[in-house]
Amino acid sequence: MLITRETPLREKSIVLIGFMGVGKTTVGEMVAKKLYRSFIDIDQVIERDFGLPTTEIFKKYGEEKFREYEKNTVVSYCRQRLKVISLGGGAFMNDEVRKACLTNCIVFYLDVAWEEWKKRLNILIDSRPVLQDRSIDDIQKLFYERQGLYAVNHSKLRVDERSAEEVADYIVESLKLSWEIHDPQ
Ligand code: S3P
Repeated sequence: MLITRETPLREKSIVLIGFMGVGKTTVGEMVAKKLYRSFIDIDQVIERDFGLPTTEIFKKYGEEKFREYEKNTVVSYCRQRLKVISLGGGAFMNDEVRKACLTNCIVFYLDVAWEEWKKRLNILIDSRPVLQDRSIDDIQKLFYERQGLYAVNHSKLRVDERSAEEVADYIVESLKLSWEIHDPQ
């Protein structure tokens, strides 16, 4: 049997997934700080590379082009160690992205109840192209459709009314516990 050199658990990058507006960026930044790692926000990388906000990228180049670039960006960062990476809410719908994240990294799903998420819609709508021109029923449908694919993860936690700091602490504590159990030093 071939012996493959696996990345030690302690060095695997952490990936945060979940629907728009659950706090992946804020929590990711905090987790990175607490673990002394560098933080990568995939949307920020894409916006920097295009020199445009996501809404403008969608308008100028179309969603397909955005998704292709998003996929390549995620796959390339996922292969690196010791990062904390926040994905845009739609990225994990792509098969290659899911596979790359689940194989190379530890994936945390930040889950939120629909009723709780609905309260955030007003502050999200202008900056999220996929929410524009959709009825609330369509958004709810998208929310539940995506849950099916977010469900494939390594760890899931409900954010609901928890603060970003509480969520970040939970992630860091559960990582440290799993490192001690599965990769003791
Ligand atoms: C998207 C979510 C956004 C951004 C883009 C598309 C989506 O990221 O990638 O607007 O399809 O859910 P956030 O999840 O950070 O809002």
